Amino acid sequence: MTVTVDEQLAISTRGLRKTYRRRGRRMVAVEGLDLDVPAGGVHGFLGPNGSGKTTTIRMLLGLVRADAGTAHLFGTPVPQRLPDVVDRVGAIVEQPKFFPRFSGRRNLVLLAQAIGTPVRVVDKVLEDVGLADRGRDAYRGYSLGMKQRLAIAATLLKDPDLLIFDEPTNGLDPAGIHEIRATMRGLADRGKTVLVSSHILAEVEQVADTVSIIARGRMVAHGRVADLLGAHGGLEVRVRVDRQEVASSLLTAQGWSVRADGRHLVVQGTEHPAQITRVLAASDLWVEELVPVRAGLESVFLELTAGQGPEGHVGAPHRGVVGGSSPGGGSPGPHPEAVVDGVGGGAA
Ligand SMILES: Nc1ncnc2c1ncn2[C@@H]1O[C@H](COP(=O)(O)OP(=O)(O)O)[C@@H](O)[C@H]1O
Ligand SMILES: [Mg+2]
Repeated sequence: MTVTVDEQLAISTRGLRKTYRRRGRRMVAVEGLDLDVPAGGVHGFLGPNGSGKTTTIRMLLGLVRADAGTAHLFGTPVPQRLPDVVDRVGAIVEQPKFFPRFSGRRNLVLLAQAIGTPVRVVDKVLEDVGLADRGRDAYRGYSLGMKQRLAIAATLLKDPDLLIFDEPTNGLDPAGIHEIRATMRGLADRGKTVLVSSHILAEVEQVADTVSIIARGRMVAHGRVADLLGAHGGLEVRVRVDRQEVASSLLTAQGWSVRADGRHLVVQGTEHPAQITRVLAASDLWVEELVPVRAGLESVFLELTAGQGPEGHVGAPHRGVVGGSSPGGGSPGPHPEAVVDGVGGGAA
């Protein structure tokens, strides 16, 4: 088997797979995952709870063993040669333990001494995460956001090139989330690669340069955030109308992407909501409600996973929204940057 190794990629996996045994049954947590994270920038690793994010991260760090597939960090195969590259990687997968009565700074000094890092680095990493002026306060008095930033500071002590943060904003209030985002942005702006996982897509889309979106252990979309959103036309219109199915085919015939959401149709692909009214009225269908909304990654995700969720049609083919084939003329071809992988069906 030949594996092409790309050192421009901070992380690269091919066919990564992990199953767990539960009550005698085999349960797939990660299913043939090809994940590529470019070096430099913030990469959002997104997917709902239980979609396999933590399992993937744990495989990358050698904390659980993959059933199949390969993984490389900076072109080095892991877990086989993890010791060669481990100094270039800092990660927060579980909540680190700090001494509550010691100051944040004192906690970091102890850690620095334990790993042989000069103590002067401590003040630099406190600065990096915006804790320079609170470093001498007791850890137990820190807000959750400050505690999380101290954890990030701890990962920076050995000056890694790649930082892996598993759901670092969990449990934080909006101010805390904002602080963590700013910290991650700052790290990326200084040349680091940040992989950040989250089940809240909107939380990460503002800070991520590129994203990978997974569902049920499989990749559903990856690419630059701007391209994923751009390929969606940006605008999403929620329409309530009688005879939903007829309306849906009329709108689809215009080349727009249409999905049902309860009593509404969600239409993407037109920047002019009035066109929807016109098309429906021409066939004697009268719009009862029409609400334009800016599409975010969340709606990209919903669109891509339609048919997988409990409310979807199981096994229904996925609409190729991003880079896929669209029935309408004049639509852009497959986008070179934003890619949607096949989901649902295929692999046995
Ligand atoms: N140690 C484990 N034993 C059994 N099942 C597990 C274990 N860890 C995770 N799983 C299962 O694997 C799936 C993926 O979990 P996880 O990787 O934690 O997802 P995420 O981090 O995206 O929420 C889930 O169905 C979860 O219940
Ligand atoms: Mg997780």
